[in-house]
Amino acid sequence: MLIRVGDTDFPLPRPPQVLEVGFGDGRFTAQLARLYPDWQILGVEISAGSVARALKRFRREGIGNVQVYHGEALFALRNLVAPHSLQRVYVNFPDPWPKAKHEHNRLLQQAFFRRLSTRLADGGELLLTTDHEQYWQFAQAEGRASGLFEVETPPPPEHHLTTKYALKWKEQGRRFYHAVFRKIAEDPNPWLPLPRYPMPHALMSGTLPELHSFEKNVVRFEGGTAVLLEATRTLGPEGGYYFHTHIEEEDLIQDVLLEARPSAHGLYVGISRFGAPLSTAGVRAAVEWLVGWLEGQGLRVVQRSY
Ligand SMILES: C[S@@+](CC[C@H](N)C(=O)[O-])C[C@H]1O[C@@H](n2cnc3c(N)ncnc32)[C@H](O)[C@@H]1O
Repeated sequence: MLIRVGDTDFPLPRPPQVLEVGFGDGRFTAQLARLYPDWQILGVEISAGSVARALKRFRREGIGNVQVYHGEALFALRNLVAPHSLQRVYVNFPDPWPKAKHEHNRLLQQAFFRRLSTRLADGGELLLTTDHEQYWQFAQAEGRASGLFEVETPPPPEHHLTTKYALKWKEQGRRFYHAVFRKIAEDPNPWLPLPRYPMPHALMSGTLPELHSFEKNVVRFEGGTAVLLEATRTLGPEGGYYFHTHIEEEDLIQDVLLEARPSAHGLYVGISRFGAPLSTAGVRAAVEWLVGWLEGQGLRVVQRSY
C-alpha cells in the first residue's frame, strides 16, 4: 500500500513497529515481511523508480504487511510514526556521500538520531549495514554524540547481506560493516508532526497586471524559506499566472505552484493543488507574500483566508 500524506494520515491506520529507510528494490523488505508476518513494516524511499519496482514486488509476492511512503526519511519519521512505537529500524547501504562537502546529506547524523529517539520504543534499535567504513565510523560518532544511543558493532547478520547492493559489493569482494544503535535516552523535544493549515488563499479585486518579467523573491518565515522563482502565464481564455515556488522548512522540501487567476468570485490567489502540496507554514508565508505583492500592483483584498 502506498501512503499519500494528507491531514488524515497521522498516525497511520496500521501503526508500524518496523521501519526500513531506503529499501531500494524492496527485496530485503519482502524478506522481513515474510519472516515476521505479525509485524507492520513501513518502508520509506525517495526514489520513485524504486518505489514502483518494490510495490510491484510486494503485489507479486502477495505481501500485505508493508506500507510504503515515497519521500524523505526525516519527514516520514516525524509525521507518520507515532511516539515510542518502533521496535526496530533498518538502514542497509545508505548513500555514503563520500566527499567532505556533501557530508551534511548523510542520513545518520544527530538530527536523525534525535527524532528517532522519540519514535523508538524503550530499548528499540537501529541496525546499520554498510560497505563504507567512513560512513560507519561517522554514524557511530553521531549516534554517540547525541547522548541518546549506545552503539555496538557486531558482524553483520548474514540475511542483511542479501540486498541488491550487498550482492553487488560482495561480487567486488568488499568488506561489510555493521552497527546496532540502541536507544538509552530520549530527546526532550517531542518532534511533533509539522503543523498543517487549511489551504491559504485570498480573493482580490482589480486587474491582473501584464507581467513582462518577474524577479526571484526570497520569503523568510519562522522555520524556513520560500523562494518564488518565476511566473508563467496560463493559456486558458481567462488568463492567470502560476508562480513556481521552492519551499524549504524543517524536515520538508516542496516545489509548489502558487496561482493567481480570475474566478467567478474575483481574482483567486492561493496554492494550486497540482502535485498534492502539503499546506504548511511555508506555503502560508508564500501565499501571504504573493497577495501583498499583488496589492503593491494595485489589486485589493476582498477576502482573506490565512
Ligand atoms: C545505496 S541504495 C541501497 C538500497 C537498498 N537498501 C539495498 O541495500 O540494496 C540507498 C537507497 O536509499 C534511498 N535514500 C537515500 N536517502 C534517503 C532518504 N533521505 N529517505 C529515504 N530514502 C533514501 C535511495 O533512493 C536509495 O534507494
